[in-house]
Amino acid sequence: MSQLVDTFNRTHRDLRVSLTDRCSLRCTYCMPQDFDKWLPSHELLTTDELVTVIDVATEHGINQVRLTGGEPLLRPDIVDIVARINALPNPPELSLTTNGLRLADLAAPLFAAGLVRVNVSLDTLDRDRFKTLTFRDRIGDVFKGIQAARAAGLTPIKINSVLMPGINDDEAPALLRWALEEGLTLRFIEQMPLDAGGIWNRATMVSAEQILESLAPHFKLTPVPARGSAPAEEFYINDGTLKVGIIASVTQPFCGACDRLRLTSDGQLRSCLFSQDETDLRKVLRNRELSILDIRSEISRRLQKTVLGKLAGHGINDPSFIQPIRPMSAIGG
Ligand SMILES: C[S@@+](CC[C@H](N)C(=O)[O-])C[C@H]1O[C@@H](n2cnc3c(N)ncnc32)[C@H](O)[C@@H]1O
Repeated sequence: MSQLVDTFNRTHRDLRVSLTDRCSLRCTYCMPQDFDKWLPSHELLTTDELVTVIDVATEHGINQVRLTGGEPLLRPDIVDIVARINALPNPPELSLTTNGLRLADLAAPLFAAGLVRVNVSLDTLDRDRFKTLTFRDRIGDVFKGIQAARAAGLTPIKINSVLMPGINDDEAPALLRWALEEGLTLRFIEQMPLDAGGIWNRATMVSAEQILESLAPHFKLTPVPARGSAPAEEFYINDGTLKVGIIASVTQPFCGACDRLRLTSDGQLRSCLFSQDETDLRKVLRNRELSILDIRSEISRRLQKTVLGKLAGHGINDPSFIQPIRPMSAIGG
């Protein structure tokens, strides 16, 4: 089947699949503390439905799938989902991004089901700051989850950190030191305008440049060449082989090399985190007048149409930029 090539000649290989919009934390940059606009559960794709979409997508050259959310480990059948994706005729390279709270219980069964790698989000090493950032007193569960992931054999374990002005923006060196000691790969992510509370402020967000400045007195960082379509710009640490990454989506957008599509938990296909348009796949999947073959060919058509409609860039830096209505938690990061 044809590859998913857009009008800017970008071939799409990576599908981010959100399994739920619900989360066990309330990271302020992702959703407001009192957020209550949850998707009704009957609107979420069933496991059969999302496996069908992934199966069709792999026929079009998608070879990397990242499970995310919301918090993907809140999905009760997460282990089955991983096993079923791995059993597809063209199984994609599968990864998962989690807040880590349920990893202590799930790391071993997920590994047994075929998950190899995992990203755990952790913005601070300090219990009080964790509470301030997430509105939950659960940093201990994240540490236990990371230990369990290591014990289960998941590798690499990457840590995603967002630095927030006045809260944890002084913590870059400590996070990197900790990650190195623990054998984890750290990536800092610039805060993007995707919260539902409108707290993002370009003037105060912590930029890649500021992160590099705060690391410079403690570590020698040398840029790694050949970034490809990877979102993180990577740096070798202290002339060694270990690396740290910075995802500078705002100040150094990498849209020209973007190869990602996103499927929301309610079955809407997006060509960008910041898309204003979505393509409804759930409607196709639930159309009882269509045979399974017709459903698959319509999904195939909609995948191609969505890719062809993809814009050159996310537009965060355009004066006309409009933040998407869905917060990050409802798109899937
Ligand atoms: C939306 S979360 C979903 C998966 C899971 N609940 C977790 O915590 O990793 C995925 C990633 O998106 C990041 N994220 C959320 N909102 C963001 C924002 N406004 N800007 C940058 N990164 C964000 C989080 O830090 C996390 O690493």
